[in-house]
Amino acid sequence: MAQNASAAALKALTDWWEEMGVEPNQAEIEAVLRASQASLIPAQAGTSGRSRDHSAPDPRRRGDERTSRRRQKNKSLEDWIAEAESLAAGAESLPALKAAIESFDGCPLKQLCEKTVVYDGTLGAPVMVLGEGPGGQEDRQGLPFVGKAGQLLDKMLAAIQLDRKTNTFISNVNYWRPPGNRNPEADELAVCRPFVNRMVDLAQPKIIIATGGVAAKSLLDTKTGIMRLRGSERPFETPAGTTVPLVPMFHPAYLLRRPQDKSRAWRDLLLVQARLKEMGVEM
Ligand code: URA
Repeated sequence: MAQNASAAALKALTDWWEEMGVEPNQAEIEAVLRASQASLIPAQAGTSGRSRDHSAPDPRRRGDERTSRRRQKNKSLEDWIAEAESLAAGAESLPALKAAIESFDGCPLKQLCEKTVVYDGTLGAPVMVLGEGPGGQEDRQGLPFVGKAGQLLDKMLAAIQLDRKTNTFISNVNYWRPPGNRNPEADELAVCRPFVNRMVDLAQPKIIIATGGVAAKSLLDTKTGIMRLRGSERPFETPAGTTVPLVPMFHPAYLLRRPQDKSRAWRDLLLVQARLKEMGVEM
């Protein structure tokens, strides 16, 4: 009873946050519920606006994560990575790469979500933004960064004359929404990585903005957190030899929860702007 009451209170709170434009941190919410022995997973999909409408049963959730992972077991992770590498290498353009990613069945998250979310924005743009993966809105629309965090991202980019329609390309380091908006796990990121690398090879951006710790740590292959990574650029290198300066930045969903950190994000945006100017990129 007490557990139900606290789960209900948490739901009311996260619903209210969502209405105010604040994206709940699902990982923290789950941790709180786990600590109070409550199970968020069956109930949580209805607890925030980032989740699908669970008033009716969602047929795509018929397989839970374990079932989905079991299905992947007929091939090893290495086999799936090899298949991703081969599909990625065979794609000669960004649209061909998008089709290759959509055809790939090696990520266990694919069975648990609605859409494969690949990219949005301008092909061949000087700026590439890479986030951690789709949330609820993105999963419904099939486009990256279209929810509340995406709206803030658009405003942040606009502050330095960047936008998806003219000079910015937007994607993620994982193409399928993790259940409950949890962080993607290492194996889920690993099977996506050949596609991410190929995307950078094909798009040849002048600069990459990695939004949030998950994307930045995965791309830079480091355990260092976003607090220490942000504030300067680092080289991102693909196995094919493309090297692009990467600027780690706070995730807009984090900034919605911690607006007091927006000034630090602004400094990082100014760094991006200065680097583009140095490289002679007209905005
Ligand atoms: N957060 C991300 O990291 N990527 C999206 O596409 C949406 C939200």
